[in-house]
Amino acid sequence: MNSPASQQAISNAIPVGIFDSGLGGLSVLRAVRALLPAEQIVYVADSRYAPYGQRDDDFIADRTLAIGEWLVAQGAKALVVACNTATAQSIEFVRTRLPIPLVGVEPGVKPAAQQSKSRVAGVLATQVTLRSARFQALVERHADDLRVLCQPGHGLVEAVERCDIDSPELVALLRGYLQPMLDAGADTLVLGCTHYPFLDGAIRSIVGKRMTLVDTSVAIARQLERVLDHHGLRAAQAGDASCAGVRLCSTSDGAHLRALAAALLKLDAPVERVQIPSRRTRELESDAA
Ligand code: DGL
Repeated sequence: MNSPASQQAISNAIPVGIFDSGLGGLSVLRAVRALLPAEQIVYVADSRYAPYGQRDDDFIADRTLAIGEWLVAQGAKALVVACNTATAQSIEFVRTRLPIPLVGVEPGVKPAAQQSKSRVAGVLATQVTLRSARFQALVERHADDLRVLCQPGHGLVEAVERCDIDSPELVALLRGYLQPMLDAGADTLVLGCTHYPFLDGAIRSIVGKRMTLVDTSVAIARQLERVLDHHGLRAAQAGDASCAGVRLCSTSDGAHLRALAAALLKLDAPVERVQIPSRRTRELESDAA
């Protein structure tokens, strides 16, 4: 049997898997690194098949399971599904299929309901997230006395995926989504997609101080900490936190993942291009051939 010290050494070496449809999960990775600097991380961006917000439910569940299984095969001890869309559509199903604990993400409707003074809040998320039963239940549970203005963020994931976080076109697109919320008296904006925290500068340029932005990435990192502790999987804090490694993987060429990680996380790491085939992508490829 392993001693507690050798078990701790094993936990230190085993990574946490973090996955998103693309680059958005980097906002969660940023929060996880800040809170749990000793954890090794393997990050997968499924950029080849992003955005998920335009995919059907079966496609999203198929990709989430395939990437989860791939991360388990890489030795991941826990999985953060750092994608609201994938969580909304598939976390319950994937949880029953994987042998490791999962942490999902969901729009911060509860903190918005706690904070809003005007009792009007906007939620910006993908269409798939907004129409999911999970999101509807979240609103019913936490926002019965809050007017919730739901706005699909069409085009925003695509902008972040091409590293556009502040072009005039993007700001104009955002203004079209946010101005009606401001006009309706919203004082709180839920960033219900992990890509959107990277647009906070552009959003601020439109809403100024009139809205509080709700980003759940820090809460997700805390939830991961609780889950790792609960399962006895937390890595010991290293004296030199910078020694913990981040492995960046992409199903696309990875150039944008590398650029955004360097610009926004000050993380200069090479990106591995990985193949993670799944039932639906095999069908896509055989249709294209
Ligand atoms: N970051 C994903 C989310 O939180 C984006 C989904 C997409 O690819 O449309 O929902």
